[in-house]
Amino acid sequence: MQKILVTGGAGFIGSNFVRYIYRERPNWQIEVYDKLTYAGNKANISGLEDRVTLTVADICDEQEIGAAIARNDAVVHFAAESHNDNSLHHPWPFVKTNIVGTFRILESVRKHNKRIHHISTDEVYGDLELDDPAKFTPDTPYNPSSPYSSTKAGSDLLVRAWARSFGVKATISNCSNNYGPYQHIEKFIPRQITEILEGRKPKLYGSGENVRDWIHTEDHSSGVLSILEKGKIGETYLIGANGEENNKNVVELILELMGKNKSDYEHVNDRPGHDLRYAIDASKLMNELNWLPKYTDFKSGLADTIKWYEENEAWWKPEKQATEEKYKELGR
Ligand code: NAD
Ligand code: TYD
Repeated sequence: MQKILVTGGAGFIGSNFVRYIYRERPNWQIEVYDKLTYAGNKANISGLEDRVTLTVADICDEQEIGAAIARNDAVVHFAAESHNDNSLHHPWPFVKTNIVGTFRILESVRKHNKRIHHISTDEVYGDLELDDPAKFTPDTPYNPSSPYSSTKAGSDLLVRAWARSFGVKATISNCSNNYGPYQHIEKFIPRQITEILEGRKPKLYGSGENVRDWIHTEDHSSGVLSILEKGKIGETYLIGANGEENNKNVVELILELMGKNKSDYEHVNDRPGHDLRYAIDASKLMNELNWLPKYTDFKSGLADTIKWYEENEAWWKPEKQATEEKYKELGR
């Protein structure tokens, strides 16, 4: 593999992946294909111009995406509408980008006989009870809750069908909640960090007992690269790092790391249909492809992430007011 197309490569996880493969695979050429929605930012991939190009276009644009796929060897497909809260209020962009966009990509990789790795989420499996010892496995039935997770589930099912019916060379990964630098401040962890930096209190949905299985974005990147290079065609792999934490603990930890009183947060309206708990069993990826996460100390990963937002105010500040205005309308 020499030339790789990364859709959504100017977003949070996509841009961290681009930086990761730029470092780890010095002979690869990388084309980022991104519409630069509110969630995409050119600055996320700046400084890599010698081996990274940017095409600003929509994955739903049949001509543009077809031409980009034709000129590369493989596609790693991150592009998506990614925020649950937005999906509950404006579901159409989710249906369009996540389902129609993935359909366009599949039709093009089929036509040009290219390799595709599709990025998805553990949220396609629905949620688990708090006291359930079970975790999601590749055999867990799909049971998505929100327009976001249901459109991601739809995209996964399209990929599976195109692999089985048309022999498209596809793999899929479903990863748990990522954290790290360059994450949009609408998401849980960066929202709380930037609220504190602006002198306001963190905002916990409902009781805060909901559990997410946190993984550092660097570990997600190494998992994706393993699957891209060594994964078995047609297979689904789950990526997770045993990072279960409830939201209340995460908020308290952020407050503590930022030198504030641990109880200095507020409860806000809960999210409708809020999934209770996610948990990943990543043993297939570990056993079959010898993958292991490296950034498993959540407290130190969080401290580094806080430092990044402290040092990169110019990156997030322009988005802050509009993001909080959106939440204000929702009472969250
Ligand atoms: P993000 O919202 O930060 O980035 C999405 C990127 O896709 C942006 O750069 C945006 O401009 C681009 N994009 C959106 N619509 C597009 C379109 N129609 N055409 C071209 N580009 C478009 O999202 P993220 O958190 O980095 O998530 C990336 C992928 O990883 C998504 O597929 C998401 O479902 C998946 N995922 C995310 C998480 C998480 O914790 N954030 C966990 C597991 C899986
Ligand atoms: P989020 O980052 O939106 O990811 P997801 O919904 O994909 O898991 O939210 C993570 C968790 O944090 C989720 O349980 C909702 C909760 N949450 C809050 O408690 N407060 C907030 O301000 C936000 C944005 C999320």
